[in-house]
Amino acid sequence: MRASPCRSLSLPGSEVLMTKKRKVSGATPPPDSCAVEPQAFSVDAVRQLFPVFQREPNTIFFDNAATTQKPQTVIDVVSEFLAYECSNSARAAYARSTKLSARLEETRARVARFIGATPETVCFTSGATESLNLVALSWGLANLKSGDEIMLCLQDHKSTVLPWLNLQSTLKQFGIEINIVPIRLHHEGDYELKSIREALSDRTRLIAVSHVHHLFGLDMEIGEIRKIVGRKVLISLDASQSIGHRPVNVRRLNVDFLSFSGHKMFSSNGVGVLYVRKSLLGQLKPVIVGGGMTRAPGSEFSVSPQSAATLLEAGTQNIPAILSLGAALDFIESIGGLGVVDRRLSALTRSLYSKLKTLPGIDFSPGVDRCGCHRGFGIVSFRFEHVSTSDLAFLLESEDILVRTGDHCLTTVQDGDDYVRVSMHVYTSEAEIDRLIEVLRSNI
Ligand SMILES: Cc1ncc(COP(=O)(O)O)c(C=O)c1O
Repeated sequence: MRASPCRSLSLPGSEVLMTKKRKVSGATPPPDSCAVEPQAFSVDAVRQLFPVFQREPNTIFFDNAATTQKPQTVIDVVSEFLAYECSNSARAAYARSTKLSARLEETRARVARFIGATPETVCFTSGATESLNLVALSWGLANLKSGDEIMLCLQDHKSTVLPWLNLQSTLKQFGIEINIVPIRLHHEGDYELKSIREALSDRTRLIAVSHVHHLFGLDMEIGEIRKIVGRKVLISLDASQSIGHRPVNVRRLNVDFLSFSGHKMFSSNGVGVLYVRKSLLGQLKPVIVGGGMTRAPGSEFSVSPQSAATLLEAGTQNIPAILSLGAALDFIESIGGLGVVDRRLSALTRSLYSKLKTLPGIDFSPGVDRCGCHRGFGIVSFRFEHVSTSDLAFLLESEDILVRTGDHCLTTVQDGDDYVRVSMHVYTSEAEIDRLIEVLRSNI
């Protein structure tokens, strides 16, 4: 019997499955709250806040795992900056620039609070991909030695996997041979903890994992992974698909690095975040250097490890995008906060899954269908036996329903891996789900 709220159906399958005790990392709402929509929440009212839904009321955007739509408040912050507030930050002494620097630091402090961190551990990047690369390059390049091992899952997003493969080949050119040790996904769609136990050695230095899988939509058991790898192995967590969906707290998750993009949580494109555990700052080497940085005293070049920003932010930042991240946080608060978003996404996922299940011939990917989970994080992937997923995507687009198909940014795409991914967010309506089901039912 599984004790967790996420796993209560008994599925036929492996022993691993039967013995697994699943805990949801981050905040775990009580089981009953998963499927209950808060009374006060009005999807119509939320949709009013997004210009795109006013102009294109009939377009159904089901590709929210790729990027979210933007509320007017986020758009306003970007255009106000470009129209009236334009200056550079941390460069000049005039008031417009100094005020801007203060706003950027306020935004940093807010983002830090949002993930349970302190401002000096947070730096702004261009997105999750840059953040994940920075972990490999600023920590990995400076600290790894021949024989050291990095654990990762080849079925994760390319941005989680490729930085380490790239680092491996870069280090090789300098005579340093590190090993990439793959871990497996369980057939349900989350990491097979047994494979992490088996892969662990006294040379394991870091495990790179994602919080919620971008195709299978399952919560990965980060707390369990920490228990397995212990304190000495660093955890680099890709929170691209959990941020803005549910509480993500670096202390509770006990991770060393955390990466995410703003554009997947309502902000403008071009901003991301990298959190670095404070005690690791001294181990990082800057990767990109230039304006805005302070050279540390001494004959050899180094940069003060005072904060993640002093080490890793160089040159002019994407200021409007960073400011828009603050507006995105305001937006989430204004609709009731992450608890509301989390419950709504869970309810939508359960609803979509139960309606899809009624379609003849549907074949679900690993994920909600296989894990017996009572929760969901907005992602359901599926296909039909006799219809190609690309044909299905064309058909859906002709009905104004936008979904994701293709390689899904996986490094290991095998035949038959292609699924239609439907990913929702807080503004998704039941009517949109019903429309999808109707179109699928009449065309498959
Ligand atoms: C799990 C995961 N990691 C990383 C990324 C990369 O994000 P970005 O393209 O914003 O850098 C994505 C984007 O789809 C993702 O889903």
